[in-house]
Formats: sequence, structure tokens, C-alpha cells
Amino acid sequence: MEKMCVKDLYKNFSNFAEKEVTLEGWVRTVRDSKTFGFIELNDGSYFKNVQIVISDKLANFKDLVKLTISSTIKVTGNLIITPNSKQPFEIQATNIQIFNLCDNDYPLQKKRHSFEYLRTIAHLRPRTNTFQAIFRIRSVAAFAIHEYFQKNGYVYVHTPIITCADCEGSAEMFKLTTMDLKHDLPKLEDSQTDFSNDLFGKETYITGSGQLHGETFAASFGKIYTFGPTLRSENSNTKTHANEFWMIEPEISFCDLDELMDIEEDCLKYIVNAVLERCEEEIDFCDKFIENGLKEKLTKLLNSNFIRIDHKEAIDILKKADKKWEFEPDYEEDLAKEHEKYITEYFNGPVFVKNWPKDIKSYYMKLNPDGKTVAAVDLEVPGSGEIMGGSQREENYEKLLERIKEKNMDAKQIDWYLDLRRFGSNIHSGFGLGFERLLMYITGMENIRDVIPFPRTPKNCDF
Ligand code: 4AD
Ligand code: MG
Repeated sequence: MEKMCVKDLYKNFSNFAEKEVTLEGWVRTVRDSKTFGFIELNDGSYFKNVQIVISDKLANFKDLVKLTISSTIKVTGNLIITPNSKQPFEIQATNIQIFNLCDNDYPLQKKRHSFEYLRTIAHLRPRTNTFQAIFRIRSVAAFAIHEYFQKNGYVYVHTPIITCADCEGSAEMFKLTTMDLKHDLPKLEDSQTDFSNDLFGKETYITGSGQLHGETFAASFGKIYTFGPTLRSENSNTKTHANEFWMIEPEISFCDLDELMDIEEDCLKYIVNAVLERCEEEIDFCDKFIENGLKEKLTKLLNSNFIRIDHKEAIDILKKADKKWEFEPDYEEDLAKEHEKYITEYFNGPVFVKNWPKDIKSYYMKLNPDGKTVAAVDLEVPGSGEIMGGSQREENYEKLLERIKEKNMDAKQIDWYLDLRRFGSNIHSGFGLGFERLLMYITGMENIRDVIPFPRTPKNCDF
């Protein structure tokens, strides 16, 4: 027989009424008086605990009342419906086996802990209500993303983690070598490092984007997506940057910038809806304890049309704002965090900012007819800022080559990428969705370190 879990009971408790059930899990709390007591049990299958009633008729009652938080036990008992109590049912224990009595110095005693402190016990924090909610939502959202793309005919591509291709700038990629860094590295005549005897015989990196490889598959399957770890070496110590994060990168053939925004909007709504439907308890918890009004924000998103404005219009709005900026808004510049915040609050919801100055964007983006801007689009949301970054790609061979030269990049390294512009080129577009930024938006968590199981950020690689 399959093992029972707390979730089964909550979903179907009337079927179990007056029946014997068996559960295994962790003790959350124990309350007792002389002759009886209550144990709150959680087995991880469900956000809520089950109330176990114990009495001095149990042979080991004296040991049970001494159970410490996070001890593990096996409970057999009868399920009793309790219509007048806070919880819909409870288990009247007939037998409880103690597997492990948790040591007294278990750090998660019954009190509120700061998120900063919980990061120092990343191996234990999944046992708290907050991180149960966050990481269940993470799991459900990941599945919903696959579901969205699979339902819509996209092929899931596993792009390489080890790469020699430069997508978002080699300066941001971690270098990879098997050479012994304790010794002097072999040098070429021009004093550059000689990689010819390294494992791959050339300079290699850990990927910062699967887009270029994704484009090759989109040129065969039409619609593809990737979903995997992404590594960037940038030394950005902020609440929204991690050195290891997960990214979803769809790429769509025969698709322009406007169609791309439609897909981005549809995709985000699908994920939000799935989480609202499948993580009711978790979202209620986040609404109550993490971001007041979260549920309303997410529901509103489902029923809204996202604003679409040009980068120029965004700067116009910022310049008109009666505000002292740390960074003055500029038509030639990126949006700073404070600008993203103002724009999303100004429109009170997600905003697509499109057609960016070409000099601050990547070489592969489609040059607009004005010769000054590229067909790029970022989706900005309140709180997490940019959660999606995408563009229509330059499909013209000469123009793309030109842009690569402008950026002083080595075209030879990505000649295979340029080939796509010679063999069946087409108007195509894609975007990258930062999975952790999305989770911050969906859960209301304010620090990216609190939506990643074991975050990697500057000066932090514990566990
Ligand atoms: O804007 P980015 O750099 O775009 C790309 O990598 C493109 N190749 C995507 C594409 O068109 N296929 O990154 C995409 C998204 C950002 O919008 C952001 O949500 C997230 O990835 N992101 C990060 N998330 C956490 N920590 C970081 N350091 C991030 N850098 C980017
Ligand atoms: Mg970006």
C-alpha cells in the first residue's frame, strides 16, 4: 500500500472519518497537560500541520510530552472529524513510535527569525513555514513553465553549460580551466594565456545564456525553450542579482517584437494563474506575512493588459517626475533601479519598455530603421524590476557582422551563429525570463537570496 501523507488527509478527510491512519513526519509543536496533549505534525506534503491528540493511555506518554521540535515520529491513530475546531479533523493516536529525538540546540525554536539569520542556516530553513511556501511555489512555477511551453508546441532544448560562445559579454562569464592555477600559466608571445594544452584546447566559459544555441534549434523546430542554470561572474551585490540563477529562454521563428510581447504576457499570466490555483495555502501565507495585498496584485495582473512604451517615453516620464534622482534619467542610458521602480509604480503594474538605444544593448538585437535603437524589450514589474529581457534578433547577415565588429568581438568564435543568417534566415525573437526574479514577484520576497535554495552571491558560497 502506498504511504499516506498529510495532504491526502486534508484533501479527503471525510473518506478517512473514524478510520485508522498512519503518518510519519516532524514534530512542529507539543502542548500537554497532565493526562493528555497535542502534537502538531508536519510531513512536508502539505503546508498545514495535522493535530495529533495524545493521552496518558499511551504506554510512552511520558516520552511523548518531552518530544522536542523537529523530532521525527510515526503515528498511528483514528481520524476524527472536528467540525467545531480550527482544524477540520484530528488524529487520536493509538501508537506513536519515536524515530529521533531532536537535539535541544535545534536553531528553529518557536519564535520568529529574521531572513538574514535564516540564510545562515540554509540547510534548515526549508523547515520553516516561509520557506515551505517559497520552495513549494518554486516547484509549482517551474512545472507550470514547462507546461505552458509544452502545451503551446515548443521543444525543450538542453543547451550546453560549458561554452565558447559569447552571448551577453564574456566579461560576465566564469572562466573554465583544468590548468593548475597554483603555478604560472603558459603564455603566448603577446603574454596572453595559452589555452592550447587546456582540456578543450581553447578558452572556455560557463554559460551566461543559452540563447545562441537556442536560436540554432529555433531555426529547425520553429519554437523552442531552454530552462536551466545560468552563471554570471558580475560583482553585483544587490537584492536582485545572483551569480547562479535559473533562466527560461524561449526562441520563436517568424516572430517580431510585437508578437514576442504577446507571448511574454501570455506566458507570465499562465504561470501566475497556475500558482494561484495550485498553491492556495502558500499564497495566502505570503499575502499575510510577506507582502500585504499580494493576492490582489496577482489577480489584477491576470485581468490587465500590460503597458507597452518606448524607452524614450519612459525617459520622458522620468524627466517630468518631480523627484531628485540618484542617477539622472538619460535617453542614451539604461534604467536604474530607482527608474524601474518609478515607472512600474507610475503605471501600477507590469510595463514593457521597448526600442532601446543600441549602444547599451547586445550585438544580436535587431537594428531599427532609425539606426539608433534596437528592437529590444524588457518587462519591468514592481519589486523585482526587470524580470524578462528579450528582443527581435538581427536576421541580416551583413548588419549582424557589422554589430559584432562594432563591439570588438571575434566573429570567428560564432561563425556557426552567423550561418543562421545565411541558411534560411527569418525574422525571429526570443526572451529570457529570470526565474528567481519571477519568484520574487510572485511571492513578495524582497531578496533573491530568499527564493534560491542555496544562493551564490558575491562573497557567499556557503553550504
Ligand atoms: O537580460 P538578460 O541578460 O538577457 C539574456 O540573457 C538574453 N540572452 C535573453 C534572451 O533574449 N534569450 O537576462 C534575462 C533575464 C533578466 O531579465 C533577469 O530577469 C534575469 O535574466 N537575470 C538575472 N537574474 C538573477 N541574477 C542575475 N545576475 C541576473 N541577470 C539576469
Ligand atoms: Mg537584460
